[in-house]
Amino acid sequence: MSHNLLQGKKGIIFGALDEKSIAWKIAERAHEEGALFTLSNTPVALRFGALQSLAEQCGSEIIPADATSVKDITYVFNRSMEVLGGKIDFVLHSIGMSLNVRKHREYDDLDYDYFQKTIDISALSFHKMLQVAKKLDAINNWGSVLALSYIAAQRTLVGYNDMADAKALLESIARSFGYIYGREKQIRINTLSQSPTRTTAGSGIKGMDGLMDFTDRMAPLGNATADECADFSIVLFSDLSRKVTMQNIYHDGGFSSMAMSMRAMTQYNKCLEEEDKIK
Ligand SMILES: NC(=O)c1ccc[n+]([C@@H]2O[C@H](COP(=O)([O-])OP(=O)(O)OC[C@H]3O[C@@H](n4cnc5c(N)ncnc54)[C@H](O)[C@@H]3O)[C@@H](O)[C@H]2O)c1
Repeated sequence: MSHNLLQGKKGIIFGALDEKSIAWKIAERAHEEGALFTLSNTPVALRFGALQSLAEQCGSEIIPADATSVKDITYVFNRSMEVLGGKIDFVLHSIGMSLNVRKHREYDDLDYDYFQKTIDISALSFHKMLQVAKKLDAINNWGSVLALSYIAAQRTLVGYNDMADAKALLESIARSFGYIYGREKQIRINTLSQSPTRTTAGSGIKGMDGLMDFTDRMAPLGNATADECADFSIVLFSDLSRKVTMQNIYHDGGFSSMAMSMRAMTQYNKCLEEEDKIK
């Protein structure tokens, strides 16, 4: 249901790859809420992905860009202002990738070239977007910039690997840049720490099925879905959250505040009983 929360707002959405992508769901909701926006992803993702259908659905132009390239990002902001007819009100950074995860390199056997790429793609790209936008004065006062994060930035989770370090940096950039951009332009910058979600990037996490079952049992409200993430992102882009900035906001059904739940304990006890039977 639409509440016209983004009526008249202009945005840029980075990172929609296919229908499962969190950015895809956010784009659909932003369109429903009346926003106009451009879509951006890498040229390779555009060749393999299905972005054209989303662009048609939302009336958006697709602007190819590698988010590690300042030149590409500059083009995305300039072109977006051109096609949308003015400055930007909201930006979504929904980008993450680790070659160490993809190539099954463990955290104590990282390839450092891959590690640098993880940091560049998943975290530095956020700083590059913010710096480019500020230099171009591309974002309207009281605009909102949001990046997607994960609890592995604060707590160690098996298999999340060097992405944990990238997310920690991403969240820190939101705070550091949030101070400067807030002070000078009233622009807010936040990260949204989302439940594990079945997407292309999500599937790269080792033991995703078990992880999702565990977090769902632990969270009093259960895992947050990509659609629910989209709903909340709309609030963060809207004027209803004008004084929220420099925050990492958990959108995880309460998982981040739990240590043990009845449902998880019950499942754990079942495993112990099974183990006893084997003995
Ligand atoms: N899926 C989860 O469980 C989960 C949980 C918490 C946070 N997140 C975060 O949500 C964000 C979106 O991921 P998703 O789960 O929707 O998966 P996804 O695979 O659909 O999205 C990741 C996107 O990053 C893009 N990308 C990779 N390298 C890029 C580059 N160099 N330049 C520009 N774009 C590039 C990909 O093309 C893709 O569109 C990521 O930051 C991810 O870490 C995901």
